[in-house]
Amino acid sequence: MTGTELPITVAGTSDLSDFASHVVRHLAESGTSGSPHFSPVWEVDRADVMRETERRWLTPPHHVGWGRTWLVWTHRWMSPAEPRPRVIGHLELRGGLVASALHRVELSLGIEAEFRGRGAGRSLIEAALAWSRANEALAYVDLRVFAENTRARALYEKLGFREIATIRDAFRMRDGTRVDDILMLLELRETAR
Ligand SMILES: CC(C)(COP(=O)(O)OP(=O)(O)OC[C@H]1O[C@@H](n2cnc3c(N)ncnc32)[C@H](O)[C@@H]1OP(=O)(O)O)[C@@H](O)C(=O)NCCC(=O)NCCS
Repeated sequence: MTGTELPITVAGTSDLSDFASHVVRHLAESGTSGSPHFSPVWEVDRADVMRETERRWLTPPHHVGWGRTWLVWTHRWMSPAEPRPRVIGHLELRGGLVASALHRVELSLGIEAEFRGRGAGRSLIEAALAWSRANEALAYVDLRVFAENTRARALYEKLGFREIATIRDAFRMRDGTRVDDILMLLELRETAR
């Protein structure tokens, strides 16, 4: 299924706890230790993440508020100190919040710093785009990326997304950095319009 050696699965409700722990770790890396700023929030409440994610995952695709998530895991044998695999990356597709927007889906993803550069990000996007193309109700994939996140922008462009707008000074980070936010989209089929 993937071009990375790391296992990728489609998330189910039994993964909620592992997923939320990963999200807390991952967001804390934004703008630190060599990572560019990549998220407007860097602290989230783990219980809130679990509650809101469960609601999205339990909503059937193409109903208002639906969400689907792919997870990247460590191998069981990666560290003797870890008795079981843990989630180190994710990609979320979130459907429209009103019925009139259900032909669009918003994509977000993140890989924990230690595991970047192993093909997981590309594999996640390819899996999500294949799933989206197979769903005729979907016409566009939207995403937002910070201007300084050149690596993510290059990956999105390689996979067919194009930049359509920039929101200047969209976010002001805790270290004073002013961030421009770029909107990108991918048309899933030629008949999108
Ligand atoms: C952007 C991100 C998702 C990419 O995931 P990844 O698993 O590191 O990426 P991959 O290993 O699949 O590599 C993707 C491409 O980046 C290139 N790449 C790898 N390491 C790189 C590096 N250090 N610098 C620049 N490009 C690099 C690869 O060559 C690859 O291109 P290719 O597939 O054409 O060979 C990941 O870096 C990340 O999570 N960053 C922090 C969170 C983030 O930015 N999320 C997106 C917010 S919009």
